[in-house]
Amino acid sequence: MMRYFVFLLIVQIQSCLQIASSSKSTIKTLPGYHGDLPFKLETGYVGIGEKEDVQLFYYFVESTRNPEEDPLVYHICGGPGASGLLPLLEQTGPVNLNYIDNLTLTMNPDAWTQVANIIYVDIPAGTGFSYAKTKEGWISSDTILAAQANEFLKKFLRDHPKFLRNPLYVSGISYTGIVIPKITLELYEGNERGDQPTFNIQGYIICSPLTDKFKDFNSRLEYAYRMGLISDDIHKSAIDNCDGNYVDIDDSANAICANSLRRYEECISHINFENILDPFCDDKDPKQDCERVYRKALDKWANINAVQKALNVRQGMIGEWETINYTLHYQQDKNDTVYYSYDIFSSFSDHKKLLSKNCRALIFSGDHDFTFPYVGVEQWIALLNLDVEVPWKPFFVDDQVGGYETKYAQNGYSLTYATVKGAGHSVSIYKPKESAALVRGWLSSQTYLSKIQDIGLPNRLPPCIPSSSWTPPLYLAGTRESHGSVRCSSKSVFKRELTVAEEHEEDAVVVAERKSRICASRNEEDDAVFADGEVSGENVVRNTERENDDEKKTAVQISGAERSTIEVQISGVSTTSPMFFFFIPDFTFLIYSLHFITHRSDEIYSKNEPQIRFEFNF
Ligand SMILES: *[C@@H]1O[C@H](CO)[C@@H](O)[C@H](O)[C@H]1NC(C)=O
Ligand SMILES: *[C@@H]1O[C@H](CO)[C@@H](O)[C@H](O)[C@H]1NC(C)=O
Ligand SMILES: *[C@@H]1O[C@H](CO)[C@@H](O)[C@H](O)[C@H]1NC(C)=O
Repeated sequence: MMRYFVFLLIVQIQSCLQIASSSKSTIKTLPGYHGDLPFKLETGYVGIGEKEDVQLFYYFVESTRNPEEDPLVYHICGGPGASGLLPLLEQTGPVNLNYIDNLTLTMNPDAWTQVANIIYVDIPAGTGFSYAKTKEGWISSDTILAAQANEFLKKFLRDHPKFLRNPLYVSGISYTGIVIPKITLELYEGNERGDQPTFNIQGYIICSPLTDKFKDFNSRLEYAYRMGLISDDIHKSAIDNCDGNYVDIDDSANAICANSLRRYEECISHINFENILDPFCDDKDPKQDCERVYRKALDKWANINAVQKALNVRQGMIGEWETINYTLHYQQDKNDTVYYSYDIFSSFSDHKKLLSKNCRALIFSGDHDFTFPYVGVEQWIALLNLDVEVPWKPFFVDDQVGGYETKYAQNGYSLTYATVKGAGHSVSIYKPKESAALVRGWLSSQTYLSKIQDIGLPNRLPPCIPSSSWTPPLYLAGTRESHGSVRCSSKSVFKRELTVAEEHEEDAVVVAERKSRICASRNEEDDAVFADGEVSGENVVRNTERENDDEKKTAVQISGAERSTIEVQISGVSTTSPMFFFFIPDFTFLIYSLHFITHRSDEIYSKNEPQIRFEFNF
């Protein structure tokens, strides 16, 4: 009955893996950048399918902070059909391509690669430098894309086993909101099936997601109303007459609705969907050139022979390189083509399935994006029926409101939803600093607001402690190279006064000492430094010293509680992850381990908030 988190023992499993047949090369220099690249860039192809008919090109950038410990973000671009070069050079990657200044590359001060290793993949075939060797290989769909993405990652990590233990996040933008939940879910399910390799999957990040091919478009009406693009009466008339459908209407069947939607269309037809404040450009007008400057710059740069040589691209496999392949790219109501079937209508059910996993989600939108407005995002998040942990509140960047965020949590699942103020669809293009701050904060906070319900006992109970009064002691253990302190506080609500010591004299060693401490404390020689914590709340919380046990010197036992909250705040430096043990005397077992990124104390632990909170309901 115990609902516990299984510690993912990430062992090096190279020995039993076959060598994946892929090609990779380290890129030392790039045209446009003066000198050697000050970050580690690798490119390569991974063959997909039994015969490796599909050759997916990728860019892998190692974190410039601590590649061994930092998260591994597996990023899949939108479209479908948008190349990984787009985020690499214009959004989250280490360098920016300057399109005004003759295609030079300069360091991106807001790169996510300052805190994460990122794989950018060109997927499916037809995207960026990816191609197929057979006719069938060019044919894809949402389902095929998701399966190929999982196969890619498996092969990539087999070939890069040292990144198997990094906390893994799947990330995407825009259209890939349709497939990211599926890809993430498959990683959890693969682990549950015992597939190899085991992924240290921690969650997913989606920027400006498309989640439902009806609802997200339908939410535009409400968004237009909130942003002042339509009037009260247009809004009211549509609400009253259109039966909640502002997308697929039959003009003849409902003339009043059709009329209000015509007025709505008129109001929004000359609005730039990517950012409602940007000038409108009519891409149906052949006299207008609506291609964004940065895309043009990318198209130019990536088609330079020297660039393709530097990136180690196989020559002659694709025609012209395009930032976005519009053959694959989805638009509202676009029908399937011979090349691509848009076969997943909604990813809501996959989000729902992830609720039962030990999973963190970050969903964020630009509040000026009209493509997939935040209004629609809020609607599906509300339907997940999660408990609100932290209600809607502003987050700050440079003392200014960067946007707003809400945190939800349920069991082992948590979701942070944020809007970035003033940003359009590609949030990091419009607000690079704010989105970087948001993602960095989220990646490093690891706030597991886990409500562990049904916490019970493993099969074998310690004989002397009745199950009705048993609650888990908490161990906090650090590892080598840790310096700093841990503050723990615990608040418990008790059903009744209960002292296990009195009932079970023989177990005195476990509950003998009544100190007001909760954290395990170990001294410096013990390769970890954790200061004593503090305990607030009722005095039934006990501390236990077990002198004979080197490994576990101190434990705490909370007895007879109905509900306990344990908050842990860590400050200081550690290059490895502290682990949390819940312990039953004589039946030690580990149920939770956190991958904590603790080497940037200034950045991560300067906040006065607890980084971890465990809630137990007994
Ligand atoms: C960019 O072009 C200008 C003018 O043609 C030139 O002066 C400058 O050196 C170029 N910059 C680089 C980095 O090549
Ligand atoms: C775009 O994708 C289609 C379908 O995969 C492919 O046939 C075509 O070659 C691609 N275009 C480019 C420029 O790569
Ligand atoms: C998609 O196909 C349907 C049925 O064949 C057709 O009525 C509709 O016009 C098509 N839509 C587009 C955008 O081509």
